[in-house]
Amino acid sequence: MQISKIPAKVRTELNRQLNYELGAAHSYRALSLWCADQNLKGFAAFFAKQTGEEHEHAEKIMEHLLDRGSQPELAAIAAPKQNFKSLLEVAQQAQAMEVANTAGIHAVYEAALTAKDYPTQVLMHWFINEQVEEEAWTAEMVGRVQSATCAGSVSDLDRHIEKLLAGDGKGE
Ligand code: FEO
Repeated sequence: MQISKIPAKVRTELNRQLNYELGAAHSYRALSLWCADQNLKGFAAFFAKQTGEEHEHAEKIMEHLLDRGSQPELAAIAAPKQNFKSLLEVAQQAQAMEVANTAGIHAVYEAALTAKDYPTQVLMHWFINEQVEEEAWTAEMVGRVQSATCAGSVSDLDRHIEKLLAGDGKGE
């Protein structure tokens, strides 16, 4: 075991956040499975890709902890919400998760500011920017699903969802 170079409060926040990212991956998997079960293959593929991205986010934090002498602490991951009334509820769930995630990232940053932990502040700059994108595409998705008022338009949206959100760097 190494001696950690990360202040204790920041370490606690980083561990909390990395577990949130793993939980988000689990939740996106649940959204993907619900969509697949509804034959919404475009949305299913899109959310499956998000699952991978959340794992990458957790990975970034774990590497940071390890590089600075702290073994990451994995927590239990709760069962995600998996039953939804509609695609709109699915999109809103994604949006709520990202809004909550932004608050978590900001909490890490605040702790790093208070502790004058510059490396964590720099790491969090990447995440703060990422959350701007994550909130943008979830808001766009909610809006597009809200506008798809008949079965035909939901099908069209399903076929094109990745392309439609590509402007935010998604679906590539
Ligand atoms: Fe790890 Fe969707 O933000």
